[in-house]
Amino acid sequence: MRHGGCGGRLTRETPPRGPELQKQAISRIGAGGDAESTPEELLIELAIETKGLTKRYSNGIVAIDNLDLHVRKGEVYGFLGPNGAGKTTTMRILVGLMRPSSGTATVVGTVPGHGLVQVGSLVEAPAFYPYLSARDNLKALTRYAGVPGSRIETVLAEVDLTDRAHDRYSSFSLGMKQRLGVAAALLKDPQLLILDEPSNGLDPQGIVEMRDLVRNLGKGERTVLLSSHQLAEVEQICDRVGVILRGKMVAEGTVAELRGQTGLALMAEPEQAAGEALVRLLGPEAVRLDAGAFRLDVPPGRAAEINRALVTSGIDVSELRPAARSLEDVFLQLTGDPVATAEVTSGPVHPATPAGGSPT
Ligand SMILES: Nc1ncnc2c1ncn2[C@@H]1O[C@H](COP(=O)(O)OP(=O)(O)O)[C@@H](O)[C@H]1O
Ligand SMILES: [Mg+2]
Repeated sequence: MRHGGCGGRLTRETPPRGPELQKQAISRIGAGGDAESTPEELLIELAIETKGLTKRYSNGIVAIDNLDLHVRKGEVYGFLGPNGAGKTTTMRILVGLMRPSSGTATVVGTVPGHGLVQVGSLVEAPAFYPYLSARDNLKALTRYAGVPGSRIETVLAEVDLTDRAHDRYSSFSLGMKQRLGVAAALLKDPQLLILDEPSNGLDPQGIVEMRDLVRNLGKGERTVLLSSHQLAEVEQICDRVGVILRGKMVAEGTVAELRGQTGLALMAEPEQAAGEALVRLLGPEAVRLDAGAFRLDVPPGRAAEINRALVTSGIDVSELRPAARSLEDVFLQLTGDPVATAEVTSGPVHPATPAGGSPT
């Protein structure tokens, strides 16, 4: 458990939640429907837009449920959710591999599957000939796709496989195979790149390489839709993030917007007396103790009032500042689902920077 310390008396394990909270969160960060769009938002050009996208598989599983996704032109968009949340299903629909049960999707201004020249994707495991070299595999694809052969060396360089281009596909590591898959997706020099968990299964080094690659690919005009269950991965390379859980979009916005600046972080002594005073002042719902520091779920503007109240009660306040929540905290608050949060891990995205909050 991540939030311990003061016991049930002071705090609930997780903040209040439910449909109401989720709705607030979505509207707060501007992912609501047309009715809530400001004129400014309507002017933003979207590379991908879905409205009420729903997919029910023949076995009855509703994999995505009324999903509204807004990917802006030129951005790197992180599509974040635990395993089984519906990411692959959504992406299959976006690239035209599958039809939705209901709802609509617009991809580079047209229906999925029609703008294929402008869309490159790595959604299903790419099919390469194991006994052909990387270069010959790409050659076969250019012929099939009617792409000039001159693109081959360019994309090999882009994914850093030039030196290994003459080696057989079967001799490649998983990371190299994935990078070749990205190279294939780049052959058409697409304006939109859709990548479904390209880091999945890679070792830490492979994850770092893939992350740097995606970051580079997203520079300039190109739009990238990247799915992941690695918080740290999307946090570090994405302009905006959509969080999906059990087929539903629970939040959409920039990493900074999702994190928010709500709440205060407080250190005070003695801890027990401070906790009791805080609960009296703010109510038990608003007070959590996390690794020796209080997290107060109140507007940061109340800092002076809280400080005064504590000092008056004879409590020493050593630190009081606006709290920035980790994306992991945000996920927990939005979904209220510790299981999902555990699956959406910080992961070994960069061995040197355990970013994205503490592991559970
Ligand atoms: N072909 C399929 N037939 C039936 N159910 C499926 C199929 N593909 C995925 N599902 C189910 O749909 C849900 C979403 O899966 P998926 O889109 O693969 O999620 P994610 O990519 O986020 O892990 C899961 O419950 C999964 O078991
Ligand atoms: Mg998937």
